[in-house]
Amino acid sequence: MARESESGLPVEPVYGPEALKGWDPAGKLGEPGAYPFTRGVYPTMYTGRPWTMRQYAGFGTAAESNARYRQLIAHGTTGLSVAFDLPTQMGHDSDAPLAHGEVGKVGVAIDSIEDMRVLFDGIPLGQVSTSMTINAPAALLLLLYQLVAEEQGVRPEQLTGTIQNDVLKEYIARGTYIFPPKPSLRLTADIFKYCTAEIPKWNTISISGYHMAEAGASPVQEIAFTLADGIEYVRTAVAAGMDVDGFAPRLSFFFVARTTLLEEVAKFRAARRIWARVMRDEFGARDPKSLMLRFHTQTAGVQLTAQQPEVNLVRVAVQALAAVLGGTQSLHTNSFDEAIALPTDKSARLALRTQQVLAHESDVTATVDPFAGSYAVERMTDDVEEAAVDLMRRVEDLGGAVAAIERGFQKAEIEQNAYRIAQETDSGERVVVGVNRFRLDEEEPYAPLRVDPAIEARQAERLEKLRAERDRRAVDSALAALAKAAEGENNVLYPMKEALRARATVGEVCNALREVWGSHVPSDAF
Ligand code: 3HC
Repeated sequence: MARESESGLPVEPVYGPEALKGWDPAGKLGEPGAYPFTRGVYPTMYTGRPWTMRQYAGFGTAAESNARYRQLIAHGTTGLSVAFDLPTQMGHDSDAPLAHGEVGKVGVAIDSIEDMRVLFDGIPLGQVSTSMTINAPAALLLLLYQLVAEEQGVRPEQLTGTIQNDVLKEYIARGTYIFPPKPSLRLTADIFKYCTAEIPKWNTISISGYHMAEAGASPVQEIAFTLADGIEYVRTAVAAGMDVDGFAPRLSFFFVARTTLLEEVAKFRAARRIWARVMRDEFGARDPKSLMLRFHTQTAGVQLTAQQPEVNLVRVAVQALAAVLGGTQSLHTNSFDEAIALPTDKSARLALRTQQVLAHESDVTATVDPFAGSYAVERMTDDVEEAAVDLMRRVEDLGGAVAAIERGFQKAEIEQNAYRIAQETDSGERVVVGVNRFRLDEEEPYAPLRVDPAIEARQAERLEKLRAERDRRAVDSALAALAKAAEGENNVLYPMKEALRARATVGEVCNALREVWGSHVPSDAF
């Protein structure tokens, strides 16, 4: 990162003429769509199909979120992405004491098949690809999606989409875990097996670095810890008896795009090259699709400022360009007002328009991997790759991602980097326009969108009605069958699906599993 002098001009070039003297990247280029995929996972990339414009959205009740999805589809979004509220993410019903004050706040409240039906009302699930940002209860929301699709007459093999289902990063950086690591990884393997058998086009996991980046991880830490988590999931599935080429093509990833565009492009290219080598050389994968690191990107939420919020439009545009020049398969652009509150309809539309300008007005879709052969970016790609491989080796030396998590290694490393960023920002060395440089004496007021707190009562009424109308005996026997499967070795998704079909709630299903597996208590809990 170049440091700025008083004159505002860079005084310390990172990749200047000296660093690149005699540097010859030509020998290291490959072909796009071919091993090691440095230049992209598809031969034609965006010249064949633009990335998926997939805006993360969801708040309030299922009906309110359904309206927002229809709006986004009407404005041209090409993939859905569901945000769930914290009670749903933590496996609690909206009327559970722990849910109070959080219902419908950071995402949509989903308690049962009835809410899921409303969420996708009028949206043909055989024609859209839907991402669901759900981790510990990912199996439940996937099954609810399948059950609602079934009611629409859509067969499971027609369904496309992704569940985030990455609990390891929850222990490291986000916190929406429920069960301890061992049963969580068992559940992940059950999901891989279930999707391979029942929903073959579904992406079973979105191994995420985004949240670690938001917690302060550097680009190297972001890809190193994410790929180390990926290795842990592959080992878990192989240990559960799965053939690596049977499930690896449906693994996917999720990264951030920061404003430091060149370094981010290098980061994405390095990540693809490392993953391709790990899958081929460590796991013996042979199917080219097993070697391809396909990923979703979200622009950096942590770099949005509440001060002069319209400046965020520029940040998001630069970050989106970084993701596209880095070869992302799917992209979410943040709304400029998200540092203040939930996006309004207008700001959500503007975020999508940013992608549409890049895709349809710029020429970035006309060339595959435009930075290929760039002395600076190829050198950065090598440097990021080398540092990330070193850090992955340190995780491996600790016994792999889970063992390192249990020692708090990743969390401590990220916290150190977060502290460094905070110090540089406080000193003004790291410029944040509008915050520590180019400030306004008087910030202009901004009227954000608020979630109506009365929705908690409305959700509680829906739950009361559902519990009164359903067949209680059928629910109890389905939950008992689920608990039995959780105690044994059988795949829990089959009895779980029948419980959800009988209108068991998210909270009841997760409580049945908590009874058997317990809840995770972090090692550094006080
Ligand atoms: N040539 C040939 N085929 C091509 C092509 C090309 N140039 N471009 C695309 N295709 C094909 C693909 O092969 C694919 O077909 P297949 O499924 O049969 O292989 C199809 O077209 C769709 O293309 P992609 O799979 O590349 O794009 P998708 O958008 O469908 O999938 C993904 C992208 C990354 C693989 C997928 O996992 C995904 O969509 N992930 C999204 C994750 C997400 O949205 N997460 C949100 C997180 S928000 C959060 O965590 C909380 C917040 O606080 C941050």
